[in-house]
Amino acid sequence: MDAGLRQIQEEQGKKGSLTSSYLEERTNKSGVLSCIFSLNEGVGALARALRLFEEKDINLTHIESRPSRKNKEEYEFFISVDPGSSKDLDEVVDGLRTQIRGQVHELTRSKQKDTVPWFPNDIQDLDRFANQILSYGSELDSDHPGFTDPVYRARRKEFADIAFHYRHGQPVPHVEYTAEEKATWGTVFRELKTLYPTHACREHNRVFPLLEKYCGYREDNIPQLEEISRYLQSCTGFSLRPVAGLLSSRDFLAGLAFRVFHSTQYIRHSSKPMYTPEPDVCHELLGHVPLFADPSFAQFSQEIGLASLGAPDEFIEKLATVYWFTVEFGLCKQGNDVKAYGAGLLSSFGELQYCLTDKPKLQTFEPEKTSLQKYPITEFQPVYFVAESFEDAKEKVRRFATTISRPFSVRYNAYTQRIEVLDNAQQLRNLADSISGEMSILCNALQKLD
Ligand SMILES: [Fe+2]
Repeated sequence: MDAGLRQIQEEQGKKGSLTSSYLEERTNKSGVLSCIFSLNEGVGALARALRLFEEKDINLTHIESRPSRKNKEEYEFFISVDPGSSKDLDEVVDGLRTQIRGQVHELTRSKQKDTVPWFPNDIQDLDRFANQILSYGSELDSDHPGFTDPVYRARRKEFADIAFHYRHGQPVPHVEYTAEEKATWGTVFRELKTLYPTHACREHNRVFPLLEKYCGYREDNIPQLEEISRYLQSCTGFSLRPVAGLLSSRDFLAGLAFRVFHSTQYIRHSSKPMYTPEPDVCHELLGHVPLFADPSFAQFSQEIGLASLGAPDEFIEKLATVYWFTVEFGLCKQGNDVKAYGAGLLSSFGELQYCLTDKPKLQTFEPEKTSLQKYPITEFQPVYFVAESFEDAKEKVRRFATTISRPFSVRYNAYTQRIEVLDNAQQLRNLADSISGEMSILCNALQKLD
């Protein structure tokens, strides 16, 4: 067993407090060692902490502080150290925990061959992704429609800040949308709704009226993430959490393993209501949300997430491509027709019409093939993949996941909201017990039907 996995399992053993350490492998920062620690003692605690580094002759290459998000009385310190100090750092981390009574999160280590990349094993671990966004939601490219609009940029920062400070278990903060934002939503909502009956899959059309009834989906109202999240939880256990910016594919997919969808909360710029260069609340709420209320689709999405946990980088890229051609741009057979179920299609008036014409090329969804397909991100897709059904797509992704080179299987325990790594006899016994319990319920129910 390799070091990364052993670390994960050791952590599982002593899980239950936020003081556990995390080991994470990140290829983009190979050779860098860093950690975050917070100090809950007063004057002199930082000096004592730094002395621990000094005593081990560890050279700090970077240090910064910020108010702790968990406790306003505390400060968190982010430090990077010389890559050669790996061994000594372990002792310092122990010292920080025992002598200074600090909370320590190890963030990065130099990548060792064959290690298993870190993955969240508790739903609360998703909070860490807020610190790992690739770009903050208020950073706009120069060709973004809102680039020169200071009011829009300030507004984007407000949304990014909400998401950055959000923590698992909190309600998603309510946002008062402006009249201008509501007008933009209204235009998109009205136009797309005319296409859904003929272009969207039956699952989308089944759920949409329920969202109108229970979640405030209306032309003159932008629904609130919290309300939708509660509704989705009652349907399939899916929940929404706000995201402050762009997540890596690995982090984004990991959320799906917990049936958590990272959702934007801001809306596109009002000057171009029918265009957005990035996901926005129209894309999430009109494209993604309806399908997450469907049990089969929810399970399919979770399968992609589970397959991503601890997978090597090459496989993450393949899974992200599978995600692109299914959850974002998927088509599926329904009777003799082909309909759209991908959120990128269901939230784009132009592409929703285009995808069902004879212009694009349609291929059968086969994860092995689909995962290798190249695609453009700024124009309509030249190729779409058609699934037989969500059930069929789910089975295919499950089989595809068995080709990942990782030395364990995983399963999600919805009661504890934790990932179980199935690589030891006790875990397998627990699973067998739980399956046998379900089987007896099934047999009992079948007997009653006779
Ligand atoms: Fe999306």
